Amino acid sequence: MHRKRLLISAVLLINLAYLLVLSTFHVVSKDWFESRKMGQKADKWNKTKNSPPNDRKILILEWHNEVAVGDKVVSRNCIITHNRSRIKEADAILFTQHRISKEDMPWKYYRSDQIYVWWARYETPSIIECWKNDLRYIDEGFFNWTQSYRHDADVIVGFSDRGQVLSKLSRGKKVVDDILKNKNKLAIWMVSGCRTRKGQKLRMEYAMELDKAGIKFSRYGYCFNHNESQPRVSGSVAALTEHKFYFAFENSLHCKDYITEKFWKNSLENGVVPIVWGPTKEDILSVAPLDSFIFAEDFESPAELAKYLKFLDENDEEYRKYFKWKEDETMTDERMVEMIKERYPNLDVYVNKRETLCDKLLQNNEPKVIQSLTDWYANQEPIECGGRF
Ligand SMILES: *[C@@H]1O[C@H](CO)[C@@H](O)[C@H](O)[C@H]1NC(C)=O
Ligand SMILES: *[C@@H]1O[C@H](CO)[C@@H](O)[C@H](O)[C@H]1NC(C)=O
Ligand SMILES: *[C@@H]1O[C@H](CO)[C@@H](O)[C@H](O)[C@H]1NC(C)=O
Ligand SMILES: *[C@@H]1O[C@H](CO)[C@@H](O)[C@H](O)[C@H]1NC(C)=O
Repeated sequence: MHRKRLLISAVLLINLAYLLVLSTFHVVSKDWFESRKMGQKADKWNKTKNSPPNDRKILILEWHNEVAVGDKVVSRNCIITHNRSRIKEADAILFTQHRISKEDMPWKYYRSDQIYVWWARYETPSIIECWKNDLRYIDEGFFNWTQSYRHDADVIVGFSDRGQVLSKLSRGKKVVDDILKNKNKLAIWMVSGCRTRKGQKLRMEYAMELDKAGIKFSRYGYCFNHNESQPRVSGSVAALTEHKFYFAFENSLHCKDYITEKFWKNSLENGVVPIVWGPTKEDILSVAPLDSFIFAEDFESPAELAKYLKFLDENDEEYRKYFKWKEDETMTDERMVEMIKERYPNLDVYVNKRETLCDKLLQNNEPKVIQSLTDWYANQEPIECGGRF
């Protein structure tokens, strides 16, 4: 009897709590934009769904666009526009790094809650040196957020990552068998930038040292006098898959988190083992599938690396180890993260939270100003990365 009464009161209590949550939710939802403005904690309303009430959509103005198109809805909650006349309405204005010019900036904020975002899209700070494009004129607290391939950006938009590759590529023993059956050449490099940056010159020197040490490789791209009808940096070249190794050499040395399509698309997606030069060991370990690549700086010299490549070329079982991550069909990103952490306990392993600019704008963000873009982007990088002032 006693028990039954307890049960009934418990049910009543739960109902009451439910009603309370519902009514709170209603109020929060109604005042969402007010509270956002006033910088209050916008509570946990619909954290999972992230949808603003009253069908009001977040407006993102892309200041630079490659092709002018009308407004496009990017999700249930956000619209991207290229119409600069809508700047006053925009919740955020997105500026593309390599298109910014002093003469073409809106030097004004129209609302206190407006977010100016700087998007370092494809390039490392070495581009600043290369284009003699000093960023200090936009240093003075002009931007609120950064969007970049860098993991310390406010919004991370990378080239790819382990989780994406694992879910995108077909895997299993037969897949690996088929990839390996197709190999009849040693190495390939497609490269189109060889003169303007320090990193471009360094990687060319490195490749030529490999050549001297007996690693003959197939050559594509402008650097090898190939023209437009020859593949430049396209990752879907049939020739790729026939090769055992790809020179995934970036144009910049030791720039934080800079790991591009050379690693993801040209190498991993084509079943070619990447030889990584450019990023630091920590950065590549943090994003790559376990044991999927060869790290050039692990070797004392290009000649030592050449010896190892020849060894792998003659030992199929050893070469196959670089595909182990691909053999297990049941492997998930979560499990692989655990394996990486076990092997490298001090490594900061990257997991993509898949949070877009739209997602972040929907949260209740603290006000933020980036005092110096040069400091964030270039000055905290190592000297060899370039672009410091
Ligand atoms: C929460 O999500 C529901 C279902 O999508 C939606 O109807 C409601 O408007 C959302 N409320 C808020 C505050 O986003
Ligand atoms: C751009 O926006 C303005 C202001 O909302 C509007 O009057 C104009 O028609 C828009 N232009 C285009 C091409 O959509
Ligand atoms: C580009 O290179 C290919 C192959 O070497 C050649 O057949 C073609 O004529 C070249 N095209 C131009 C425009 O130079
Ligand atoms: C954005 O930056 C501007 C300029 O520094 C600043 O006035 C404004 O308060 C910032 N806004 C937010 C929402 O952080």
